[in-house]
Amino acid sequence: MSKATFDPTRYNKSQNEPFAQVLDKHLSRRNFVKSGLGVSALTAFGGFGLAGCGSDDNNASSTPDPVPPTQVPPSQSNVTLGFESVAGSRLDAVVIPEGYRAQVLAPWGTPLNSKAGEWQADGSNTAQDQANSVGQNHDGMHFFPLNEAGTDGLLCINHEYIEPDALHPNGPTVDADTGLRTLVDEVRKEINAHGMTVVRIKLNGGNWEVVKDDKHNRRFTGASTMDLSGPVAYTDKVVTAFSPDGSQTRGTLNNCGNGYTPWGTYLTCEENWPGYFVNNGEMTQAQRRIGVSSSSTRYGWADLAGHAEERLDEFARFDVTPKASDAIYDYRNEDNGYGYIVEVDPYNPNSRAVKRTALGRFRHEGCAFGKLTEGKPLVFYSGHDSRFEYMYKFVSAALWDPKDADSSNRLATGAKYMDEGTLYVAKFNEGGLGEWLPLTLDAMTKDGKTLADTFASQADIIINTAGAADLVGATPMDRPEWCVVDPFTGSVYLTLTNNSKRTEANAANPRLKNNFGHIIRWDEGASDTEFSWDIFLFGSPADGDDATNLSGLTELNQLASPDGLAFDARGILWIQTDNGAKEVTEHTNDQMLAIVPSKMIDGNGKPLTVTADNQTELKRFFVGPNGCEVTGFAISPDYTSVFANIQHPGNWPVSANAAEETPIGTSIRPRAATVVLRKVDGGEVGI
Ligand code: FEO
Ligand code: CA
Ligand code: CA
Repeated sequence: MSKATFDPTRYNKSQNEPFAQVLDKHLSRRNFVKSGLGVSALTAFGGFGLAGCGSDDNNASSTPDPVPPTQVPPSQSNVTLGFESVAGSRLDAVVIPEGYRAQVLAPWGTPLNSKAGEWQADGSNTAQDQANSVGQNHDGMHFFPLNEAGTDGLLCINHEYIEPDALHPNGPTVDADTGLRTLVDEVRKEINAHGMTVVRIKLNGGNWEVVKDDKHNRRFTGASTMDLSGPVAYTDKVVTAFSPDGSQTRGTLNNCGNGYTPWGTYLTCEENWPGYFVNNGEMTQAQRRIGVSSSSTRYGWADLAGHAEERLDEFARFDVTPKASDAIYDYRNEDNGYGYIVEVDPYNPNSRAVKRTALGRFRHEGCAFGKLTEGKPLVFYSGHDSRFEYMYKFVSAALWDPKDADSSNRLATGAKYMDEGTLYVAKFNEGGLGEWLPLTLDAMTKDGKTLADTFASQADIIINTAGAADLVGATPMDRPEWCVVDPFTGSVYLTLTNNSKRTEANAANPRLKNNFGHIIRWDEGASDTEFSWDIFLFGSPADGDDATNLSGLTELNQLASPDGLAFDARGILWIQTDNGAKEVTEHTNDQMLAIVPSKMIDGNGKPLTVTADNQTELKRFFVGPNGCEVTGFAISPDYTSVFANIQHPGNWPVSANAAEETPIGTSIRPRAATVVLRKVDGGEVGI
């Protein structure tokens, strides 16, 4: 997430108990109560159930151990991290372990086809160039192979937001008197720099190359026509002058984390989209709850509404103030076309993107599917990244059929599993147990009513997902970012990046003023509505006091604001940071670390959390250049290439060698880029 687009406002005005208070009780009691979930439920999930916070022996619980040691399935990774933790760094360069090299791939402005001119270092590329080139500020990412060797494939890359000063020769042009935007091509270029890229890449002599003019190459921008599906599609909630039947919307914005599906599609997630829209009139409840702007659009795109060169209301649509007699004549519902998980079929260049509304509408960080079990529903997890917001899951109505992994009609398969099902929101209770609360019309609210007393339809609930979650009593969290699923255990890991504003519950407890963030994990229970949880890792500076540095981190793995997360199929958890806490930034730039959680078990097979006793398992793999955030992860099927994104660097890259430092005194136009990390000897990365 950019610091530029992060919205610090607390939109959650509900009185639901903050997660901080639950955590505080959880920690202070230090009796890490074990889950009472049954063995069958946990093993049915293919793995080993967590038992509250299993790292503490001082167990005051009287509930039975959920998985007796003799029944522990041998479900754990067998890899060992094979690199030495790199030191913290504050350079205009990527820092990597010995024996590795780092290549810059597909930086912002890389032409995808011959309609685009080459990227110009003076910022003079046009909107047309940008529509046919890689977008700005890379974020979530996935690699879709095109051959078995994994040396040829499609890289899908999110572009979260823009750096206007880097995008244009001299930053945005505005009228000196009014401060309003004046240049149509400039604004179109900004809209086109958003969204996501599909680009074919091939490995050639140890280096990855963009295959220009490949038929798969394409951009989805803030202007691309997309289909709506699920409960909101074809309802009056999404009727606009562009789509009178509510079947379509234009564009995807602030594409942050990502997911992918078992059937080979990409999921791009719309995060801080509300600020791109303005309502100068009376806000709807949903607009107030999510934070649509009441003053101006983020980059001033609506300033050009009514301009003589405007086409199809391309700028007017960002002003969602009701203006006409009916929604079919204006854009009062344009924002309702945003806030979704968007499915893209990278293999079919003729397909449109589809917004899967059943998965909820909020500031989606990412999306991850749970462990697959034939004959069981599919589960998708997604967090709402704002202070005091919630964690959600969607459980499909359709039951998983492994044959669907080979579907040739991938978007029809997406419709099968993602358009019908039940959306839930998480309530984290004391004692390491939790509940998934359904967001359906018949769901019970905190005050003993049902959601049907407030909402008229499931579409109504989806449009104001967070408002519905308030009513059922979900747990406000410290900014849910990425979540991922351990391929061995099925445990779900979620980054809670930080929440410095959560001081009211207990200011004396440093975790209540959560400047450094943490990673929570959970296991599903016997039913769709139960889970058990614990805290896997606490971010902290190495010199944090005992109440802060609860995971015993050192100079070799200190971190703050965990954000990007990924498991590779070998069971390595990759952790990326987006940190602004000076206690850590004075030691190191943002970074990517690695750990193998499924191997961290005690003598009885119980999962461990990261503590001073075992913190050396967490190793820093690389450090990004000054000013950047490290985000987005992909890996080639043979594990010899790891792809990670450098977002909003300050003065980098100076060459195709990501590890080359920009000379002191040299100022360059910064370019977000993918970095490919490979071993010099071509071996598997990380081990
Ligand atoms: Fe776009 Fe929450 O990071
Ligand atoms: Ca972030
Ligand atoms: Ca993020």
